[in-house]
Amino acid sequence: MKNSPKTTFIPALGYDWLTGVYDLAIRLTMPENKFRQRLLEEVEPKASEKILEFGFGTGQNLLIGIQESPKSIFWGLDIDPKVKTIAGRKLQRQQMQVPLFLYDGQTFPFANNEFDKVFSSLVFHQLATRTKKRCLQEIYRVVKPGGSLVIGDWGKPKSKYRRFLFYAVQLLDGFATTRDNVAGRLPEYMAEAGFTGAGEVGYINTRIGTYCYYTGRKPE
Ligand SMILES: C[S@@+](CC[C@H](N)C(=O)[O-])C[C@H]1O[C@@H](n2cnc3c(N)ncnc32)[C@H](O)[C@@H]1O
Repeated sequence: MKNSPKTTFIPALGYDWLTGVYDLAIRLTMPENKFRQRLLEEVEPKASEKILEFGFGTGQNLLIGIQESPKSIFWGLDIDPKVKTIAGRKLQRQQMQVPLFLYDGQTFPFANNEFDKVFSSLVFHQLATRTKKRCLQEIYRVVKPGGSLVIGDWGKPKSKYRRFLFYAVQLLDGFATTRDNVAGRLPEYMAEAGFTGAGEVGYINTRIGTYCYYTGRKPE
């Protein structure tokens, strides 16, 4: 855990000193292209839509999103200054302009109903239950009526073997924050925040667990 102005957070790979090798770790343990492409397929970015990635990390999803839909307007929000530097450098190298925001873990620095869509990948399993719920309320606040939320994250393992593999993630990121994911509770929390039709729409089995896709919509 690392201190930020108002809250503690778990860095991308569990420990601050591992953040520099996050991309390599993902490449070695997950079918990276497949799970990110599918995530963006669920987001379905369209021209002129304003889309927020909550917990942009090292910027991999933003890079793919902009490549696939250059006329969408992507913004990013994270809590860790270290990943902002890494993502900012990558995006700049590709001459991609994406406003990247940091916040203190409390209120998102955005107005109500500011985004057409919000998406997030591999973030919620790093948040305590209380923080998961607060972040979902904040996402609900900033997404427009009729807008959507797409979450890709560790979900209920689809076999005993995947459950066993997921202990590796739990050892790095902690058991307290990952328990809700293993129990498949994210859709329930999305619905509690106000999203309708919240549910699992697909999954990918990886070397370290089952990565699930969840979607929901803010009512018109
Ligand atoms: C495992 S990384 C995922 C990065 C990226 N989304 C991906 O798919 O590779 C989790 C990210 O969530 C961020 N994070 C952790 N707690 C957060 C919080 N309370 N609010 C926003 N971001 C948070 C971390 O800084 C990290 O960048």
